[in-house]
Amino acid sequence: MKYFSIAIDGPAGAGKSTIAKMIAKKLNIIYVDTGAMYRTVALYCIKHGIQCTDKDNVEKILNQIEIKILYKDHTQRIFLNDEDVSDIIRTQEISQGASDVATIQAVRVKMVELQRNLAKSASVVMDGRDIGTYVLPNADLKIFLTASVEERASRRYKELTQKGIECSLSKIKEEIEARDKNDTCRECSPLRKAEDAVEVDTTGKTIQEVVDQIISLIPKQY
Ligand code: C5P
Repeated sequence: MKYFSIAIDGPAGAGKSTIAKMIAKKLNIIYVDTGAMYRTVALYCIKHGIQCTDKDNVEKILNQIEIKILYKDHTQRIFLNDEDVSDIIRTQEISQGASDVATIQAVRVKMVELQRNLAKSASVVMDGRDIGTYVLPNADLKIFLTASVEERASRRYKELTQKGIECSLSKIKEEIEARDKNDTCRECSPLRKAEDAVEVDTTGKTIQEVVDQIISLIPKQY
């Protein structure tokens, strides 16, 4: 059976996960959050006292990491060696660590294998940085989601303050800029728009407007 795939790439905070989740629900297919996989590797490194930038040691412990993905009501849960880590990988420290381990080729090879296997066995909306360019080059629809750095920082600031987490807008902006730099300048699979991707700028748009726009781009046969 041929499964259907939508690739959504873009920088941190562009709204990929919120939008991808809504599309998956609407189409009744699964949402694959690939960032969570890099976050899980970072979590394991941090827990074991390994710097996420320490390529040699990260490579050494990679075979100790088993990542499993399970779905419940279209929601992805991610397991690190059988522990559900879906919630604890959402900290700022893990965001930066994920961006660091993601520059290591051996880490990417392992994550990409997992991602391609998921897309072989189900129709997916997959979000990340290299989905349209590398993981699923034959995806049925490719979206490159962007928003200004100011808008991305202010969305993240709102999200954190709503959760009661104290934070500084200027610090968040700096962290987003640092991650953008890491993601676009790395050697392996840097973040860039696939030639055949449609660029959707979410600045000033509501989530629903973006979801509707993407759904309208899905080829008619699906
Ligand atoms: O999407 P999220 O912010 O959770 O991703 C965390 C980090 O993982 C990103 O900053 C990026 O460096 C890395 N990543 C990646 N390739 C992907 C998904 C995420 O390099 N496909």
